[in-house]
Amino acid sequence: MKRVLITGASSGMGLQLAKDYAAEGWQVVACGRDHEKLQLALSGISVEACVFDMQDADEIKQAVAQLAPCDLVILNAGNCEYIEDVLNFDAARFARVINVNLIGTANCVAALIPHIKSGGRLAVVSSSVSFLPLTRSEAYGASKAGLDYLVRTLAIDLAPHNIAVSLIRPGFVDTPLTQKNDFAMPGQVNTDYASRAIRRGLAKGQSEISFPFGLITVLRLLSWLPQGLWRRLAQRMVRTES
Ligand SMILES: NC(=O)c1ccc[n+]([C@@H]2O[C@H](COP(=O)([O-])OP(=O)(O)OC[C@H]3O[C@@H](n4cnc5c(N)ncnc54)[C@H](OP(=O)(O)O)[C@@H]3O)[C@@H](O)[C@H]2O)c1
Repeated sequence: MKRVLITGASSGMGLQLAKDYAAEGWQVVACGRDHEKLQLALSGISVEACVFDMQDADEIKQAVAQLAPCDLVILNAGNCEYIEDVLNFDAARFARVINVNLIGTANCVAALIPHIKSGGRLAVVSSSVSFLPLTRSEAYGASKAGLDYLVRTLAIDLAPHNIAVSLIRPGFVDTPLTQKNDFAMPGQVNTDYASRAIRRGLAKGQSEISFPFGLITVLRLLSWLPQGLWRRLAQRMVRTES
């Protein structure tokens, strides 16, 4: 039986992936930082729970020490906070987002690489935010751009060790993370769609999985614009929003 470990399995995309892989007959190791929340979210579904805060490297190592090897590890957990007032740049908020999304993921990579079977796969959930600099995304965008580099480099360095690597870049997905947003989210999809796109991409062995196609195509085209032109367009979008 195939075995998958998923971080951030207590809500949103991670929860949907845990449910869907369990329904497909995989053994699922569902990770979260709050045992009760994790149990409540996954009640009735047969999973192995694993509890840690990804900011704590030692806690992760202890939590996963006895884990059986996995065919697939999906590092999905993350957080989003925006820089609301650029003139009073909140460096503590910036550090918090980098600590969870980038350093936290690196902590998971360190603890979990030894638990990936030879021939297995490591997948990391980044974001489509890193296609373009977007307003108020100084912290979130930097954390995800950092993840993109980390994952693409791991793909080079883990290949000789027979571990494949996938970078996952979702557009807007309806989850607790985006339910806090107060702006339009073009092309938003639900967690069913996201889970299907991710599982299909991973099953095909894709090194990059970006979705939904329409939004990603627009972002790709915009990312080819000269930076100055994109800056003026982005500023106009900010003025329209406010
Ligand atoms: N939703 C979108 O539109 C979207 C788009 C692109 C990328 N993403 C990325 O997709 C991933 C999943 O997000 P989601 O939208 O499904 O959001 P979500 O429902 O808020 O889920 C986030 C998960 O990460 C966990 N988490 C957060 N901080 C953690 C920490 N310090 N240690 C351990 N676990 C932690 C949360 O645990 P708790 O339940 O304990 O808080 C939760 O299980 C994130 O990396 C996010 O950046 C989301």
